[in-house]
Amino acid sequence: MAQYDPQQYMADLRRVTAERTLALGHAPTACVVTFGCQMNARDSEKLKGVLQEAGFADSESEEADVVVFNTCTVRENANMRLYGHLGHMNSMKREHPDKIIILCGCMMQEPDEVEKIRRKYPFVDVVFGTHNLYQFAELLLRRLQSGRRVVEVWEKERGIVEDLPKKREVPWKSGVNIMFGCNNFCSYCIVPYVRGRERSREPEEILDEVRQLAADGVIEVMLLGQNVNSYGKTLERPATFAQLLRRVCRVRGIERVRFMTSHPKDLSEELIEVMAEEEKVCRHLHLPLQSGSSRILKAMNRRYTKEDYLALTERIRRAVPDISLTTDIIVGFPGETEEDFEETLDVVRRVRFDSAFTFLYSPRTGTPAAAMPDQVPAGVAGERFARLLALVQQIGSEESGRDTGRVLPVLVEETDPKMPGRVTGRLSNNVMVHFPGEETLIGTIVPVRLLRSQGFYYIGERA
Ligand code: 5AD
Ligand code: SF4
Repeated sequence: MAQYDPQQYMADLRRVTAERTLALGHAPTACVVTFGCQMNARDSEKLKGVLQEAGFADSESEEADVVVFNTCTVRENANMRLYGHLGHMNSMKREHPDKIIILCGCMMQEPDEVEKIRRKYPFVDVVFGTHNLYQFAELLLRRLQSGRRVVEVWEKERGIVEDLPKKREVPWKSGVNIMFGCNNFCSYCIVPYVRGRERSREPEEILDEVRQLAADGVIEVMLLGQNVNSYGKTLERPATFAQLLRRVCRVRGIERVRFMTSHPKDLSEELIEVMAEEEKVCRHLHLPLQSGSSRILKAMNRRYTKEDYLALTERIRRAVPDISLTTDIIVGFPGETEEDFEETLDVVRRVRFDSAFTFLYSPRTGTPAAAMPDQVPAGVAGERFARLLALVQQIGSEESGRDTGRVLPVLVEETDPKMPGRVTGRLSNNVMVHFPGEETLIGTIVPVRLLRSQGFYYIGERA
């Protein structure tokens, strides 16, 4: 990597794009389609940053001259969605042979998928993976100059590359990667295979980025990692997530700090303290449960029990009484019995999550769970899924509205698309509020009286 000169690739790409702009009479357009989680969303901001710097005009339409699919493979339906889009791309490219189609992200870290793309999707122009995302400009340039398809995927991660350009979706909030990869190897999960081993960024690099964002007008940051609670363990000078969080809260100009995702086994008392003490830390914790059965949790390699999870959420609620807890739950993990499933329902009833993402277990090739005996029949899993969803929704609707009548700060995000003269924003606990207001409020925090709850959002008025 010693001779790698990203500046040079960028300059060359900009020249090629400028020539194209002259030929077309306008800048070529580029569209980035993102599947999956917040990490992918952040990666897409980097892809868009590169495209913008190269001179492409940003587009929301898949009819653009360049279309990038940033893929996800966490569950089978994510893969299916990509192939659906590719079918569509094939016919578009027949009409516009100059169109460039690019695939990257987690699914491209799976050799079988890349092989399938090679054989059956000859119209795809560029393929790269999560580990060499920072080569994007170089790979696109290579395709444009050679006219031939470029497939380059690295099997393993190679350190962290700082300083990619990024295009923020909105001016006042931003994700910030604090670590990459995952070392947990939950037995159902493909992420450790496609995102590589856990690497933390240096605290100073992170703080510099946050300071820069604040200087640019960002007031809310979301610290991103697959398992933020184990942040810093692999650094030469180890640091904890709690310490980092406190330092991020001290950055002047930053008003709200969120983070995602927490693993219950690593959530420290120190972190609970920081959450209780630091006002800028949002009153929301996403704490994936996955299952309420200790037996299934063991088979999932989650390394906590039902009792551990319950005790942890109790400690958190005691320290931060107004916290909103949300979670992820998988239904139909191999070997899950009716009794195991009842344990999950029991935890949901006791913790009373504000909301929960519920997933049907999806076997991922290469993970230990995919080879486990006693895969749960689809009918049984589907029936449990429906029962869980009904419970989660019932509790969610009972919990929503508990702040009715209070005046709370709202960060205004957008004008209400359906109601002129109204805006939409979020409470610290992530719940949405609609209230009368002007566009000029976007990106600011204002006190709002919560008049009534409409299920999953509030109607309010400025206080
Ligand atoms: N099947 C179903 N759900 C899964 N998740 C991860 N892997 C799988 C899988 N193989 C869920 C977990 C995780 C969320 C991001 O996706 O609940 O927390
Ligand atoms: Fe997957 Fe578990 Fe890592 Fe989350 S912590 S990314 S579920 S292996």
